[in-house]
Amino acid sequence: MKFFIDTANLDQIKEAQDLGVLDGVTTNPSLMAKEGITGANNILEHYTKICKAVEGDVSAEVIATDYEGMIAQGEELAALNPQIVVKLPMIAAGIKACKYFSDKGIKTNVTLVFSVGQALLAAKAGATYVSPFLGRLDDISTDGLQLIADIRQVYDNYGFKTQILSASVRNTMHVINCAKIGSDVMTGPLSSITGLLNHPLTDSGLAKFLEDYKKGN
Ligand code: G3P
Repeated sequence: MKFFIDTANLDQIKEAQDLGVLDGVTTNPSLMAKEGITGANNILEHYTKICKAVEGDVSAEVIATDYEGMIAQGEELAALNPQIVVKLPMIAAGIKACKYFSDKGIKTNVTLVFSVGQALLAAKAGATYVSPFLGRLDDISTDGLQLIADIRQVYDNYGFKTQILSASVRNTMHVINCAKIGSDVMTGPLSSITGLLNHPLTDSGLAKFLEDYKKGN
C-alpha cells in the first residue's frame, strides 16, 4: 500500500520523506489555508515546493466548479510538474473533466467520494485515483471502512485500474484496516504514519538489549 501524507506543511512532508516510506502528497484548499498559503500564485508556487520535497505524486485541487474552469486550472496545475495529479471534485463537471484529463494522459484524483456509485463513475471516467473520505463517514456514524471494502469489491469485479486512495484517514488503525482491505493508497496526517512505529515491547526489548550489552563490556 502506498503512503501519501495529507498536508501542505513542508516540514511534515520532509519528515515523512526522510523516513523513506513516503510515496506522495495530497493537499486540498483547506490544508493550504491552514498553512497560510493564499492567492493563486502563492498556491502554485507552494505546489512546486512540495514537488521538490518529495518523490511521487502530488495531488493539487482545482477550485473551479464549472467544466471550462476545471480544464483551465487543471492544465495550469499539470504544467507545473509531471508529479502533479489534478484533483477534481465528485460532481458532474468533475467527472467530465476527469475523462478529458485521462484521455490526455494527465493523472487525476476524484475527491469528496462518499459512495460506491460515485467511485464507479470516477473509474468509468478513467480516474487515476479515487478518494473516499473514510474519517468523515465515521464522523457521522457511518462505516467508512465498509465503503473502502465495497469499492475494492466493485473495482476487482471489473478490473478497473483506478487506485483506491483512502482519504480522511485519521489514525493508525485506519491505516492498518485500509491495508487489510486492500486499499491501494492511504493518505493521512504525519501522526498516522509515525504512530505505526510505536510498541512498548519494542522499547522495553531494546532497553534490555542495550543493558545486557553493557554488562558484557
Ligand atoms: O484527504 C482528505 C482529507 O484532507 C480530509 O481529511 O480529516 O479533514 O476529514 P479530514
